[in-house]
Amino acid sequence: DWNSGSVIAEQVAKIREQIGEGRVICGLSGGVDSAVAAALVHEAVGDQLVCIFVDHGLLRADERRQVEEDFVASTGVRLVTVDARQQFLDALAGVSDPEQKRKIIGREFIRTFEGAAEALVLEAKAEGDKVRYLVQGTLYPDVVESGGGAGTANIKSHHNVGGLPEDLQFELVEPLRTLFKDEVRAIGRELGLPEAIVGRQPFPGPGLGIRIVGEVTEERLELLRAADAIVRAELTAAGLDEEIWQCPVVLLADVRSVGVQGDGRTYGHPIVLRPVSSEDAMTADWTRVPFEVLAKISNRITNEVAGVNRVVLDVTSKPPGTIEWE
Ligand code: XMP
Repeated sequence: DWNSGSVIAEQVAKIREQIGEGRVICGLSGGVDSAVAAALVHEAVGDQLVCIFVDHGLLRADERRQVEEDFVASTGVRLVTVDARQQFLDALAGVSDPEQKRKIIGREFIRTFEGAAEALVLEAKAEGDKVRYLVQGTLYPDVVESGGGAGTANIKSHHNVGGLPEDLQFELVEPLRTLFKDEVRAIGRELGLPEAIVGRQPFPGPGLGIRIVGEVTEERLELLRAADAIVRAELTAAGLDEEIWQCPVVLLADVRSVGVQGDGRTYGHPIVLRPVSSEDAMTADWTRVPFEVLAKISNRITNEVAGVNRVVLDVTSKPPGTIEWE
């Protein structure tokens, strides 16, 4: 009989045993896995843990605030936020190819995280201490998928920027390694984490960067964020969060169509709704969202989001379509 209280007690004891007096860092993504892993480690070793949150500017509305305010308030975790929004925009300027965008975002992310980690390592060193551990929110399905091995992580090995100290090598702490997603959520709730984080649907690492078909710009991000917030609010209000695995909202920035609004002709962009039902994201079907809910979303987006004059629904299963458009 599974009990989140006893799993927490067991993991806390294991973490204490592994880490002892050592210092530990954890990257937060805004998602449930890293948040719960961090909360567990904090429960075990308190301020020996420092979390790093990279704001790459590709987050959805309110996500940074949820991490900086709600997550911190509910856990007491020490948090360093790196505001890298401009850096990512600059790196993505002029790039439309999806794989290229993914590569750039991944590269900038590692660089930024590494820079913040290095600063913490140096700070600890100045205090005569060493940061030896890195928390990862690896779940049981991830362990099975990757063949099981784990141990140390050298952030440096992901790319070829020279000059980083040898110290930037960490032993991994993976308190969620035996758990499934629903168990992780239960533990997060037991630990008092905000529902907006614990109940969050899957969201890709490259974020809104791969939900703009075309070049990523600040204006387009703002527009997409507004549309996405409306979709999330209306799906939640309609009680569809259980049925829907996730609902990417995609801006077709390279497409324009003619419309009419008030007295005038418009020439705006379409927004695509991609609600899917799935067990594991390997296959998916498009969710039969009630017409009234779709109508409300469509009305709100075209009325409230300047530059969007059309809302379309993606009715493709996976396969052949992927869940994301890029
Ligand atoms: P696709 O589009 O391949 O997505 O059907 C399957 C699941 O994976 C998520 N996804 C990603 N997650 N980095 C991530 O962390 C990525 O680059 C990425 N691409 C897709 C997607 O949201 C869905 O849940």
